[in-house]
Amino acid sequence: SREELEARVIEVKERLGKRLFIPGHHYQKDEVIQFADATGDSLKLAQLSAENTEAEFIVFCGVHFMAETADILTSEKQKVFLPDMRAGCSMADMADIQQTEKAWEKLQEIFGDTILPLTYVNSTAAIKAFVGAKDGATVTSSNAETMVKWAFGKKERILFLPDQHLGRNTAADLGVALEEMAIWNPISNMLEYEGDFSEIKVILWKGHCSVHENFTVQNVIETREKYPDMKIIVHPECRREVVELADEAGSTSYIIKAIETAEPGSSWAVGTEMNLVKRLIKNHPEQHIISLNPHMCPCLTMNRIDLPHLVWSLDTLEDNSGHNLIKVSEDIAQNAKLALEYMLENS
Ligand code: 13P
Ligand code: SF4
Repeated sequence: SREELEARVIEVKERLGKRLFIPGHHYQKDEVIQFADATGDSLKLAQLSAENTEAEFIVFCGVHFMAETADILTSEKQKVFLPDMRAGCSMADMADIQQTEKAWEKLQEIFGDTILPLTYVNSTAAIKAFVGAKDGATVTSSNAETMVKWAFGKKERILFLPDQHLGRNTAADLGVALEEMAIWNPISNMLEYEGDFSEIKVILWKGHCSVHENFTVQNVIETREKYPDMKIIVHPECRREVVELADEAGSTSYIIKAIETAEPGSSWAVGTEMNLVKRLIKNHPEQHIISLNPHMCPCLTMNRIDLPHLVWSLDTLEDNSGHNLIKVSEDIAQNAKLALEYMLENS
């Protein structure tokens, strides 16, 4: 029963104390997040991993790339586990390392040594290593502006992997014209751009988040019609048109803070993952909160981590057979760490 499973988690947590650390991303289910030692957006969870030197076992309640990042940023002795290996990220899967190497080769032919690669943390460790080896950095939704500025201080152009929307939204907010942005299509291995290539400042990898693409201009129009006083706040993984029409855009932590610090009685339509929207509704009865898309949008891979998987993971931690151990190979981890450290130093 649920009570038995919960009691099991409590028992293991009490027994292991500080030997165990459970970070939880804001998109995790309530049944899991209630047991997190810390919650956060991607940046905060990466920072906490880098700071935590005492936990022997890190049971990461989030998706695969987050657990890889935690492994890269912690010491040899600390072990990172993902309660369900199927908890991937469809966006991270949209850029594989072979495609990226092929793209880079072609881009070098076209642009020479004028490009710095940046990758959203929602990417495999191999992509982070590729970027780090070229002096590029990772970014999250909460420091993308800072990191894109940082990149332009080093090179004329950037290649932004793998989320075209976060890349486009960030560059546009910094004043890069949409006409100066091209798309890299990894399937055709070609640039999608009509015009003179020398005008290009930002090359956007053609990837996206399948959850955030579900928020549409139509959703914004209907919300404005129905609730003229409602504020619309969205995640920058949403399409450009949606972000432009919204009142605010920011990372999951930014969204939470905006609603927490708003005047009581304010109303919000939120364009992000369903578990977070539901939690905001529950935790903030003083505000009127709805999802920007009335057919709430879950992240199916985040949802793979549920209470039974958490319990199973905790129960198998100490048996040394390494169930669901996340271990990034040393050569990849070294360069990926460089990319992550550039970001952490600048955040
Ligand atoms: P943040 O929590 O950093 O905003 O990331 C959102 C996300 O989609 C994670 O997969
Ligand atoms: Fe990946 Fe989107 Fe799910 Fe985040 S919400 S884990 S970007 S699929």
